[in-house]
Order: sequence, then structure tokens, then C-alpha cells
Amino acid sequence: MEIANTKISLRQLLEPHRSKGCRIAFVPTMGALHEGHLALVNQAKQLADIVVCSIFVNPTQFNDPKDLEKYPRPIEHDISLLQSAHCDLLFHPAVDEMYGLAERWHLDLGHLEQVLEGLHRPGHFQGVTQILKKLFDAVRPDVACFGQKDFQQYKVVEHMVDKLKLPLTLALCPTVREPGGLAMSSRNVRLTPEGRKQAQQLYRTLQQTQADLHRKSMDALRTDAIRVLEGSPGIQVEYFEVYQAESFKAADETSRNGQLVALAAIWVDGVRLIDNLLL
Ligand code: PAF
Repeated sequence: MEIANTKISLRQLLEPHRSKGCRIAFVPTMGALHEGHLALVNQAKQLADIVVCSIFVNPTQFNDPKDLEKYPRPIEHDISLLQSAHCDLLFHPAVDEMYGLAERWHLDLGHLEQVLEGLHRPGHFQGVTQILKKLFDAVRPDVACFGQKDFQQYKVVEHMVDKLKLPLTLALCPTVREPGGLAMSSRNVRLTPEGRKQAQQLYRTLQQTQADLHRKSMDALRTDAIRVLEGSPGIQVEYFEVYQAESFKAADETSRNGQLVALAAIWVDGVRLIDNLLL
């Protein structure tokens, strides 16, 4: 695997592939890689000739400076994982390679920025779109792969690609789960063994919501899930909602027959976890 730390070296390394007409797939990450990221690399390999992965802990998408500081950065381990997944190229820039001084960015994200993750993490999606626009410009991929765990992020990126008419397609890859059902996340390493077990209740509740879809009102689906989660040891619920997957608006009785998605954010052991399930 080749490694580029600058946009210029990235361009030089990609040029021979581009001039041969190779398709390029891109997997953007913030590192602390796990099976979920490796599944994205795998999917990317099926979609293109060359796979580029980026590792960049993007400061503009953290609304809590402590969260940014605590974010794990096991770069040597990440490199060996990417090598074993046969990733072709790693882009691993420093912050000043990606950002100038006092840069400004604002993209109209409509209601996507006012609900769920957008509401609870103000500015987060501005930071995500800001860095992804820079990364897409640097890598110029044919296709970029994102995990379903961050479903709202996927909707935001879809919105940006459409709004800015970016010349790439997006692929949404299924969430990879630990044996007890907990969605893989770089934050899981901060859970205690007890917390990790407690957090498994989230996936069970999402599955129960799926099973209850045609038995309960939309309101009951939501309130029952919140009641079960709040009654589970160690869990505090930030939100649990059922949304329409396409429009990303709250589901009501009239949208019951379309594709719905249940989405949640909870806290366990002081760690914020998100997950979702297409119903
Ligand atoms: O999902 C992530 O890891 C990040 O939000 C992303 C897409 C790499 C942008 O920094």
C-alpha cells in the first residue's frame, strides 16, 4: 500500500492509474479502524480498480474539544489493517494540509441539519461536508463508500453531492456488528466490558421496533422503544425516532408503507453511541 501525506503526492500516485482509465473508489475515515471500515474497503474493491482510504481526524466536525482530544489515533495499527485488507493507497494528511487559517464554509443542508444528529451536534454536518468536499476534490473518486451506521451522514453527503453536482456516486454499506449486535464504532473501545453488554440493548430494541412495525402506531413504536431503553441499566436515551428513509422526515401513519428507518442515539459509560435499522 502506498501512503500519501500531501495532496500533491496523492495526485502523483493516482495519476498513472487515472491515465489508464482505472475506476477509483474512496473510503473516507477518521482512523481507529475496525471490521466496519474493512468491510467498506472490501465493498470498495468490488466497485473499482483502485481503493483509496483516507485517515484524517477532522477537527471541524467535533463540537466537543474533549471528544476531539480523546479520539483514538492508532495509526501504525490502522496501516497494518489497511495493508491486510489490500487497500491500494492511504491518504493521511496533517491538519494544515487540509485547512488554511480562518477558513469559512457553509452549505445549506435544509432540514437534515435541524434534526437528530444535526440538532444534537450543532455544526457537525457543516464540518463533515467541509472536509468531504476537500477530500473528494483531492481524491476525485468515481465512487465513495459510507457505512449505514451513520445513516444521517449518508443523507447529508447525498444532499451535498446532488446540490454541488459532484461527479461521483455514493455506495451505502451495511452496518457491521459485534457478536452481541452492537454496531462497530471507533468509540466502542471506550466502553467498559459491562457497558458494552448494556449497549447491546440498543440493537435488540431496534429489532423489536422492526418486528412491531405493523402491530403498533408510529407513536407507540417510538415511546415503547424509549421506555425499554430508559429502563435498561446503564443507558440514557438522547433520541429514538422512526423516519422515512428517502425524505428523512419523521414517519407518520400515512408513510407506513414506504421505506422507514429507526434511528437512535444513547449514552453508555459516558460514550455516545448511535445506531439505526431499516424497518
Ligand atoms: O464517518 C466518518 O468517519 C467521518 O465523518 C468522515 C466521513 C470520514 C468525515 O470526516
